[in-house]
Amino acid sequence: MARKAVVVFLSLFIGLASLIVYAENSLVGKAKFPLIHHSHHHQDTKTFLRRRELVSPSPAKQPSPPTTTSSQVSPNSRVYRVTTYGADPTGKTDSTDALLRVISDVFRNSTGQKGLMQGIPDLGGAEIHLEGGSYMISRPLQLPASGGGNLVISGGSLRASDNFATDRYLIELSATGEGDKSSSPFPYEDITLRDLMLDSNYRGGGISVIESLRTSIDNCYISHFTTDGILVRGGHETYIRNCFLGQHITAGSDPNEKDFSGTAINLRGNDNAVTDVVIFSGAVGVMVSGQANTLSGVHCYNKATGWGGTGIYLRLPGLTQTRIVNCYMDYTGIVAEDPVQLHISSSFFLGDAFILFKSINGIVRGVNVVDNMFSGGDKGVDIVQLDQSKGPFTTIDQVVIDRNNVQGMTLRATVARGLSQGNGSSWTVDFNPILLFPNLIKHAQYTLSPSTTGTFPNHALRNVSGNRVTVESDVAVPATVYVTVDQGTVITS
Ligand SMILES: *[C@@H]1O[C@H](CO)[C@@H](O)[C@H](O)[C@H]1NC(C)=O
Ligand SMILES: *[C@@H]1O[C@H](CO)[C@@H](O)[C@H](O)[C@H]1NC(C)=O
Ligand SMILES: *[C@@H]1O[C@H](CO)[C@@H](O)[C@H](O)[C@H]1NC(C)=O
Repeated sequence: MARKAVVVFLSLFIGLASLIVYAENSLVGKAKFPLIHHSHHHQDTKTFLRRRELVSPSPAKQPSPPTTTSSQVSPNSRVYRVTTYGADPTGKTDSTDALLRVISDVFRNSTGQKGLMQGIPDLGGAEIHLEGGSYMISRPLQLPASGGGNLVISGGSLRASDNFATDRYLIELSATGEGDKSSSPFPYEDITLRDLMLDSNYRGGGISVIESLRTSIDNCYISHFTTDGILVRGGHETYIRNCFLGQHITAGSDPNEKDFSGTAINLRGNDNAVTDVVIFSGAVGVMVSGQANTLSGVHCYNKATGWGGTGIYLRLPGLTQTRIVNCYMDYTGIVAEDPVQLHISSSFFLGDAFILFKSINGIVRGVNVVDNMFSGGDKGVDIVQLDQSKGPFTTIDQVVIDRNNVQGMTLRATVARGLSQGNGSSWTVDFNPILLFPNLIKHAQYTLSPSTTGTFPNHALRNVSGNRVTVESDVAVPATVYVTVDQGTVITS
C-alpha cells in the first residue's frame, strides 16, 4: 500500500546546462558510436517484433483476425471494435467522436460486479480494440469522470491532428471531464494501454494518468510530444514497461539533438515502476518527483548532458526512495536533488555520463551508488559530482559510493585505500583525488610496515584533516604506511 508522503515540488526547474562546463566539441565523441546505436536498436526492434508474434495472447483476449466483421462477433463479446462505431482506420478523417462514443459505451456498460475498489465500476475486462488502424484525433480520448476499471485499450495507432490542444494528452485517465463524478478518490483502476503507437504530432503529450490505481502501459511507442510522453500524477502503481519514447524519431547522434525538449516520462506520484523502456529523445528522460518509484532496464539516450539534457532527474529533495538498477545511461546522466534514500546499482554509464548530487538544503543521506560501470573519453570527468552552488552539503550520512569501475573517467568514492612509502618519520596519504566529499574522513585505519627487520618504532595517526591522513613515528625508519578511510557511517561512543 502506498504511503501518502508529502512531496515538495520545486517550483523551478533548474537546468543542468548552466552547471556543466562542456565544450560543444566534447560531444563529438557521440558521433563515434552512430553505427553501434543504429544496429543495436535495429536488431532489438526486430527481435522484439518476432517475440511478440510468437507469444500469442491468452485465448480469452485473442483478437479476431482482421477479416472478421462486426456481425461475426458474438453479441456478448466485450471486445469493442472501433471501426463499427465509424472510426476511420486510415487516419484520413477525424475519429475523435467515434472513439469517444466507444469509450462512453464501454463505461456505461459496467458489469455491476464488485471486483475493484469501492466506487470504481468494473468494466469486466472489456477491450477497446483499435483493429490495427491508425486514427487521427483532434481532442483527447479522456475517460469518463464516472470512473471505471478492468479495461484494455489496444492494438493500433493514434495521432493528434494539427489543431489538437497543446496542453492535453492523446489518452487521458483524468476525471476532470463533464458528467457524473466517481465517488472514489481514485476514479480508475486496472486500465491497460497496450500495443499502441501514439504520435502527439508536436502538440502536447501522449498519456496522462491522474489519481489512478494499478495502471499498465505496455508496449507503447510514444513520439512527437512537446510536454510529457507519459505523465503520472497522484494515484499509485502505474507500471510502464516495454515502451519506446522519443520526441523526435532518431537512432542517436541526431544533428538537432541540442533542440530536443519535453520530458519522456514524468512521475509525479508514488510507487510506480518503469521497466525495460528506451528513451531516445527529449530533454529529460524520466523526471521523478514522487517517492518509492523504481526504474529498471531503462536506456536513456534522450539528450546528451553536454547539450543540457538529463537522463533521470530526481526532483524531490529530502526523501526520494528511488531505486535505479540495471539502467543504461548513454551520454546522459542522473541528477538527484538532496538525495535521501537513493539506490543506483548495476547500471552502465557511457560517454562521460555521470551522477550529480545537487545541494538544495545540504542533505545527502542513505545513498548507495555501487557496482556500476562508467566509460568515458579520457576527459577527466568524475563519475559522481557535487553541485554545491546553492550551499555545501552539510548533512552527510550513510553514503556508500564504492565498487564502481571506470574507463576513461575519474573514479570517485566514499571509501578508499592508499599507501605511502618512505624513509623518515612522517607519512601522508592524500585521498583528495578519490574521495567525493571534501574534508570528510569519518573513519581511518592504518598499518605501518617497516621494511627493515628489527625496527619497532612508536607511531601514531596524527592528522586526518583535508582528506589527508598523516602518520608519524618517533624515529626515522624506512616503512610503508597502508591507510583505509571512509566517509560513511560511524558510531561514536
Ligand atoms: C453491454 O455489454 C453486453 C454484453 O455484456 C452487450 O451485449 C451490449 O451490447 C453492451 N452494450 C453496450 C451499450 O455496449
Ligand atoms: C634511512 O634514512 C637514514 C637517515 O635518515 C639512513 O641512515 C638510512 O640508511 C636510510 N635507510 C634506507 C633503507 O634507505
Ligand atoms: C592537520 O593538518 C592541517 C593541514 O592539512 C593543519 O592545518 C592542521 O593544523 C593539522 N592539525 C594538527 C593537529 O596537526
